[in-house]
Amino acid sequence: MSYKKVILNKFGSPDVLQVVEEKTLPEPAAGEVRVKVLAASATFTDTMVRKGIYFGFKETPPLSPGYDMVGMVDKVGANVDGFEPGQMVADLTVWGAYSEYMLRSADSLVPVPATVAPADAVSLVLSYVSAYQMLHRVAKVKPGQSILVHGAGGAVGTALLELGKLLDLKIFGTASASKRELVEGLGAVHIDYAKEDFVARMQDEGKVNAAFDFISGENYKRSFQSLKKGGILVPYGFYNNAMGKGGSVPVDYMKVALWNILPNGRKAFFYSIGDLRKKNPDWFKEDLAALFDLLKEGKLKPAIERRMKLEDAREAHELIEQAAVKGRIVLTVNEK
Ligand SMILES: NC(=O)c1ccc[n+]([C@@H]2O[C@H](COP(=O)([O-])OP(=O)(O)OC[C@H]3O[C@@H](n4cnc5c(N)ncnc54)[C@H](OP(=O)(O)O)[C@@H]3O)[C@@H](O)[C@H]2O)c1
Repeated sequence: MSYKKVILNKFGSPDVLQVVEEKTLPEPAAGEVRVKVLAASATFTDTMVRKGIYFGFKETPPLSPGYDMVGMVDKVGANVDGFEPGQMVADLTVWGAYSEYMLRSADSLVPVPATVAPADAVSLVLSYVSAYQMLHRVAKVKPGQSILVHGAGGAVGTALLELGKLLDLKIFGTASASKRELVEGLGAVHIDYAKEDFVARMQDEGKVNAAFDFISGENYKRSFQSLKKGGILVPYGFYNNAMGKGGSVPVDYMKVALWNILPNGRKAFFYSIGDLRKKNPDWFKEDLAALFDLLKEGKLKPAIERRMKLEDAREAHELIEQAAVKGRIVLTVNEK
């Protein structure tokens, strides 16, 4: 049976993404599962993989992007326990999920409750696990505390807002004017970063207990300045650098490490979903399962602005790089 996937034959602009047809389905080896993909996120991180600038990524073209997916178990290989055809599963794939079918190691799959929609479920894998772990495992915020969330109208930003609200946090969110309604609708105080100096605003507001920053460069420093005594900066991305606005990833790493050890009464720890999963694979599974429970109970409603097809992957990447997405895009796959 043939199936479709999106591939890139070289790193580059969204134009390198093309849909190809594979003649035969891949066969699962021992310990593997073939998954019929139902939904994959299209995220800013995928655009970095596509450009060949994703820090630490060693794969070379041809490859399919796609950092996470939710799908149906289609066939199990030998020695696979606990999964059977028809069961819904999720995985953080890092690459490869822009495809109708893919092989995964059974060890890395997380069961998805049958009652939740695949598009909602996939939203939780990269973006919400990142937000959840930054809040609970890195910053360890407490109810009633205050936080600063940059890019509050984006995929991870909206996840931080929703999860922060469940924790009863006071949340300040930077975003352009176009995302004000979304940010305020999620219960945060909107700061239009193009018009207002967020450091001055944080000073007026009494500063925050934690700041979550993927903008990089000077923004990290400004977020650090926005912290109360005992506060923590959680840097987790290099947006400006990825968008060609300068800055240096190694220099940012060094600065953050230095701020963390200097006697300034504040902390700074980089977060990486991949590094934490490698160090502690059980945490990833536990945290994703906890998020699926919240989704099942109706406590989460991921902000999905658009559902697009695999064939629209190029357009999805263009919209993401134009910052034209409120919340997130989900690619729906194998939908008849
Ligand atoms: N470390 C990890 O494990 C991890 C995990 C997941 C994601 N990430 C990283 O997290 C970042 C965000 O990912 P995402 O999927 O949420 O991206 P996204 O959905 O594309 O959201 C990013 C948004 O940030 C806003 N923005 C741009 N410049 C800004 C500025 N100077 N101040 C405040 N907001 C600004 C833009 O919207 P407006 O300008 O319209 O407000 C943009 O849409 C990426 O760098 C990604 O690689 C890291």
